[in-house]
Amino acid sequence: MTRLAGKSALITGAARGIGLAFAQAYVAEGARVAIADIDIARAKDAAADIGEAAIAVEMDVTDQNSIENAVAETAQAFGQIDILINNAAIFSAAPIVEIDRADYQRVFDINVAGTLFTMQAVARHMIDQGIKGRIINMASQAGRRGEPLVAVYCATKAAVISLTQSAGLNLISHGINVNAIAPGVVDGEHWDGVDAFFAKYEGKAPGQKKKEVGDSVPYGRMGTAEDLTGMAVFLASDDAEYIVAQCYNVDGGQWMS
Ligand SMILES: NC(=O)c1ccc[n+]([C@@H]2O[C@H](COP(=O)([O-])OP(=O)(O)OC[C@H]3O[C@@H](n4cnc5c(N)ncnc54)[C@H](O)[C@@H]3O)[C@@H](O)[C@H]2O)c1
Repeated sequence: MTRLAGKSALITGAARGIGLAFAQAYVAEGARVAIADIDIARAKDAAADIGEAAIAVEMDVTDQNSIENAVAETAQAFGQIDILINNAAIFSAAPIVEIDRADYQRVFDINVAGTLFTMQAVARHMIDQGIKGRIINMASQAGRRGEPLVAVYCATKAAVISLTQSAGLNLISHGINVNAIAPGVVDGEHWDGVDAFFAKYEGKAPGQKKKEVGDSVPYGRMGTAEDLTGMAVFLASDDAEYIVAQCYNVDGGQWMS
């Protein structure tokens, strides 16, 4: 299929996991992609695996110069940026009485400030170039409600949903559609880390939390990164032209809104 033919995309945190699946799906739809990640070695391997439609770009979304350089590098390589996926994020968990201020700051810097200021840099580029672009922010079911051990990460994802609404309403006046995707539980290295947190705080055996959450999904299993690619392609495609400031749950029935 070629629903994204001629488009170019910048995807943050795309060296692995969901972002990498998005990059592969976008290239399969005819787009060129910049795999932007703090882990440049892995981003280079990922881009090489995908082929000439992909480039690797070093990017730390907590660093303003790095954001601006990554946007400039991508725009130079492809001529312009039509699509941004704000996908880079980290997870953290602790009971309220153990939350550490430095950890709180780091998670907010990556998940919230990283999303906002990358969105801003790409929106400036799109407005300057007159590009009717698309921005997709990665939220989470964690942003739909709190969790007893996951206050900080949940708050960052609620902030991503809120930023998507405000930016969506503001940027549509420039013809830029901003929307979000809220996955549920998606198997991969991210969830290996989540599982380790629950093993620590809930005294579970490694792998136990993963099995429990998978069993509790109405669909009957954890999601895969590939379960999310259809929505990511759709939101970037012409079919999503009239969709503004929304957040879509793609979670096997975990959350209804
Ligand atoms: N996996 C899930 O169950 C799940 C569920 C809901 C939402 N999400 C969201 O989906 C997105 C992707 O999740 P994933 O499972 O693929 O995560 P992941 O941990 O596998 O990948 C995250 C990527 O972000 C990169 N990254 C981290 N810090 C960065 C920084 N400062 N600058 C640039 N890149 C940085 C990492 O190197 C990594 O490649 C995230 O926003 C996550 O919060 C994931």
